[in-house]
Amino acid sequence: MSRQIIVGNWKMNGTRQDTQVLVEALVNGLPASAPDVVICPPFTQLALVQPALASSPICLGAQDCHKDVSGAHTGDISAPMLSELGVSYVILGHSERRQEHGELDETVREKAVAATKAGLTPIICIGETEDQRESGEHEDVLGWQIKGSLPDGFAGIVAYEPIWAIGTGLAATTDQIAQTMAFLRAELVRQFGEAGKAIKILYGGSVNAGNAVSVLSIPEVAGALVGGASLKADAFLSIVSAAS
Ligand code: G3H
Repeated sequence: MSRQIIVGNWKMNGTRQDTQVLVEALVNGLPASAPDVVICPPFTQLALVQPALASSPICLGAQDCHKDVSGAHTGDISAPMLSELGVSYVILGHSERRQEHGELDETVREKAVAATKAGLTPIICIGETEDQRESGEHEDVLGWQIKGSLPDGFAGIVAYEPIWAIGTGLAATTDQIAQTMAFLRAELVRQFGEAGKAIKILYGGSVNAGNAVSVLSIPEVAGALVGGASLKADAFLSIVSAAS
């Protein structure tokens, strides 16, 4: 199996001082045989973090981008702007953006095309609600999200994040993750053919230092998308150490 990838999504957190302290701890504490590691600070901290990572293997990611290169889009940031700042990954279609900003699968797909054109690796998030899981619709929902959100020829990363597991402290069980990962792999191969075998699938949703080893040992789990625990250097570095 190729190296796993651990992505820290800091969401809307981090003053300049918090950011400096956290990045320094991550850079200094990164184990020698670390997996691929990406940190995604808020837009406002990207320029501060980029030079601090200059001599580190940790990569810089962002939490969103616009589908256009430039134009009248107040408050938005384009993929080439991120690329210019040294960003190499971008999270797209996170459930918080789908819910709070009304992002549709089509929007996410257009953003993924723009990100790829700018040389960024898109990390496209998909995931079902608690109701959808309980009513047994989750596989249909995930299949539609893959079909709608991933562009033709997609060569990025998919993050499976059950919405009910995000920020709740209740990660999906290993059985739930294993079953869903197997479904997602089959669906990616059904929709993308041979190329679908190479798309990495991350798990996200209450990953922490205590459950990282078991989550990252599940077949098809190519890494983790970590929210809350990525804001604490010790917790994030423990998750990094649990990866292979
Ligand atoms: O992007 C990260 C996910 O939303 C997971 O967040 O680790 O706080 O549950 P969490």
